[in-house]
Amino acid sequence: MNPVDLLAQPYTLPCGVVLPNRLCKTAMTEGLGDAQLRATPEHVRLYAAWGAGGVGLNISGNVMVDRFVIERPGNVAIDVRHPPSVDADARARLSAWAQAGTADGAQLWMQLSHAGRQSPRYATRQPVGPSAVTLDMLGSYKTPRALEDSEIVDIIARFGAAAKIAQDCGFTGVQVHGAHGYLISSFLSPVTNRREDRWGGAIDNRARLLIECVRAVRAKVGQAFPVSVKLNSDDFRKGGFSHADCLKVVELLNSENLDLLEISGGTYEQPRLLGIAGRSEDAVAVRPSTRVREAYFLDYAEAIRAVARMPLMVTGGFRSREGMCAALTSGALDVIGLARPFCTHPDCARELLQGRIDRLPAFEQQLHLAASGWRSPTSPLLLMKMINVLGAQGWYYQQMDRLAHGRPVDLKRGILRSFLRYWWDDLGRALRLRR
Ligand SMILES: Cc1cc2nc3c(=O)[nH]c(=O)nc-3n(C[C@H](O)[C@H](O)[C@H](O)COP(=O)(O)O)c2cc1C
Repeated sequence: MNPVDLLAQPYTLPCGVVLPNRLCKTAMTEGLGDAQLRATPEHVRLYAAWGAGGVGLNISGNVMVDRFVIERPGNVAIDVRHPPSVDADARARLSAWAQAGTADGAQLWMQLSHAGRQSPRYATRQPVGPSAVTLDMLGSYKTPRALEDSEIVDIIARFGAAAKIAQDCGFTGVQVHGAHGYLISSFLSPVTNRREDRWGGAIDNRARLLIECVRAVRAKVGQAFPVSVKLNSDDFRKGGFSHADCLKVVELLNSENLDLLEISGGTYEQPRLLGIAGRSEDAVAVRPSTRVREAYFLDYAEAIRAVARMPLMVTGGFRSREGMCAALTSGALDVIGLARPFCTHPDCARELLQGRIDRLPAFEQQLHLAASGWRSPTSPLLLMKMINVLGAQGWYYQQMDRLAHGRPVDLKRGILRSFLRYWWDDLGRALRLRR
């Protein structure tokens, strides 16, 4: 089959829903929520642009199930314990968002998450986690409070209830965020989960929160609705959630009727999801063969494929048609996950699918190049590293924000300006929060 046709091939999920093609725009936190953490007209504009851009599946940025423990101000929250965040107005806003994102035939799934300990000081008074293990990043994060058993049970119910609201409002699927160090992922890691009860210890116990959240979601949305999980192939953190743990969790997920498993990797401490190495003292090396491949987690995905019985998507680093087609042809995965190119080129999927481009636009290398002048990837100076990572992240946020406001992207924006603007925007939003 010719490569263009391969990417354009529809894919039928186990629940019966058909993805129009093999390209997915994966979750990217938009920061467009209002002071009450509700969806806004900016979500509508951004997702309409992405929906019209030809991607088969679009996954929303992380939507919080607890409005008091959030990943950043500007998140959307569906907090079923707080009636105003699920009232008619909040639902109408979600419906407008879903309608805009699906109008051109794309699937639009909502990513549901709980930030856990990765909730910055300025966004939350009291982060929570499996255990009181602090995220050590220049004092930006408070020590989380270890959750009580009854609170964990409540969080599971929140995931189920939020998924039902997403479905009722017109989202065409949901994804449970089990990656990147947020609450569910922190339960999976022995570094952050020191519990000795049914939620800690052996991997079956550490995975219990993830499995129970998936069950709660499935119970609420029914069998015909897509349910996905995003999971780390490895945390790349010494003593943390390992690739062997991941394979065990995939085996557990095999019994849960999943429609798509998305593979990523890393946490705030080791941001390998973005292709960046974190603090060297804690790091687990990536496999040498992975370093020479375009996509970050392909080697890991091949091992996961050997045990997984659900469809697989791999996200991180894919940029060339050649790389994507080779991965699909090898049988290692079914769907290609892509994120950053959509921040600057919302219609890049169509360009690729119609054979007009062979490579997606990529700015991360030049952003990190700019930052590597500061020697941050290997520098002992954590501040430099944070400017590098957050500046690059801010650069992408600000491009999305411009698209959401109907403004042209600004490719010349520098990394330091992006970093400063990131803090300015997020702190301003934090001050305006009404909770
Ligand atoms: C600006 C930005 C925001 C992101 N927000 C999320 C998020 O809310 N949830 C999530 O699972 N991943 C998030 N990610 C990670 C992406 O989904 C993806 O895994 C990562 O960017 C690697 O893919 P890429 O190389 O194609 O960009 C984010 C990435 C970026 C750049």
